[in-house]
Amino acid sequence: MINLLVTGGAGFIGTNFVHYWMEAYPNDKVVVLDTLTYAGNRANIALVADKPNFYFYHGNICETGLVERLLQEHKIDTLVHFAAESHVDRSIAGPDTFIETNIVGTYSLLKAAKKIWLDDGLNQNRHRFHHVSTDEVFGTLGPNDPPFSEGSSYAPNSPYSASKAASDHLVRAYHQTYGLNVTISNCSNNYGPYHFPEKLIPLVITNILQNRPLPIYGDGQQIRDWLYVADHVHAIDLVIKKGQIGECYNIGGNNQWSNLDVVKFICQRMNEKFASDAHLVEKYPQAKKVRLGQAQDLIAYVSDRAGHDRRYAIDSIKAMCQIGFKQKVTFEAGIQKTINWYLSNDTWWKSVKDGSYQEWTPAQFEAKQVNNGGR
Ligand code: NAD
Ligand code: DAU
Repeated sequence: MINLLVTGGAGFIGTNFVHYWMEAYPNDKVVVLDTLTYAGNRANIALVADKPNFYFYHGNICETGLVERLLQEHKIDTLVHFAAESHVDRSIAGPDTFIETNIVGTYSLLKAAKKIWLDDGLNQNRHRFHHVSTDEVFGTLGPNDPPFSEGSSYAPNSPYSASKAASDHLVRAYHQTYGLNVTISNCSNNYGPYHFPEKLIPLVITNILQNRPLPIYGDGQQIRDWLYVADHVHAIDLVIKKGQIGECYNIGGNNQWSNLDVVKFICQRMNEKFASDAHLVEKYPQAKKVRLGQAQDLIAYVSDRAGHDRRYAIDSIKAMCQIGFKQKVTFEAGIQKTINWYLSNDTWWKSVKDGSYQEWTPAQFEAKQVNNGGR
């Protein structure tokens, strides 16, 4: 049994991780620390809020004292660090919070972990700090370059990726200098349930349902390597259980698509869904284009992202050979699952898009926080 502290557990990947972990390991204790920025959503973790081994703390990773208290009180032996500002466009518009959360916040967690695990000796010989990072730290690839490997040089191009690169370096330094037991995973683009609809795939699905434009930055020929979120979450489990201390693991989908092709693919699948399901036609009267089988007419070319990375691709061979990582969900199946999830959870994405999700505070959730001492 392990006692986990999950930072950013109310965000996209963190939520999927918490759901996965509590189902796979029902006897482990899972403590979530999340400050609930615009990207954090209490409703995401409502499914597990009632479980006696689940605790939620509304707080900031920059509060080192709070993190120390949680590590101590809950006898945490494994910290999985998702909390971050994660959207590249927002980092271009305003880098401050990216520097604060991604760099200073990671430093705060490392400081707390060192104090409790190494200086005070709690779980000194049995602790793990797993840092969830991104392929964006490696910069951009040319059309014929080999995919990023763990040995690729760091060359971040956006304030977001630079802040993630800095956090990776700090995690590495705490291992080399102080002997903290760390692992790092650098993953490619995720998609799936609970993905915040400012990111390409959920934006396109929900905009089709609202008959809104589908913005393509620049020429739409930028390439991303897409991985279904459940495969990423499983890979993190493998790194925690089987990864070597001090090592980094690249995790990817071996699934490179241009943005334009991804958007056209989703349009096609949505057209087919509406053509075969009269109930959808009734449910979404405003979705005019997709009802006519013409979702692709919503595509709109807009100005390019500043410093836009042209291509990402990940070589996962190390994770495959050393910890048994194997992608289970194909892009075709993953996109179908994702579309189905958004179609079945329109209250979720509508409340996110209109902002009302931030008022979501069911009574039982509040009571649970009081009972378990959460803030
Ligand atoms: P997200 O933006 O959906 O969620 C981030 C979560 O962190 C939110 O719940 C937010 O409230 C919380 N948070 C932000 N600042 C905080 C702070 N100061 N203190 C406590 N909580 C805070 O992000 P995501 O897409 O789920 O990404 C999670 C992690 O995975 C990030 O570190 C990101 O860099 C990394 N990653 C993401 C992808 C991807 O495709 N989304 C791919 C590779 C790596
Ligand atoms: O590679 C991993 C990274 O993937 C993570 O580290 C980031 O946290 C995550 O946000 C994601 O970054 P991207 O910038 O690749 O994802 P995004 O969904 O914002 O954009 C995907 C591609 O689509 C990118 O080339 C920009 C483009 N795009 C995006 C949006 C939102 C568009 O063309 N139109 C859009 O409206």
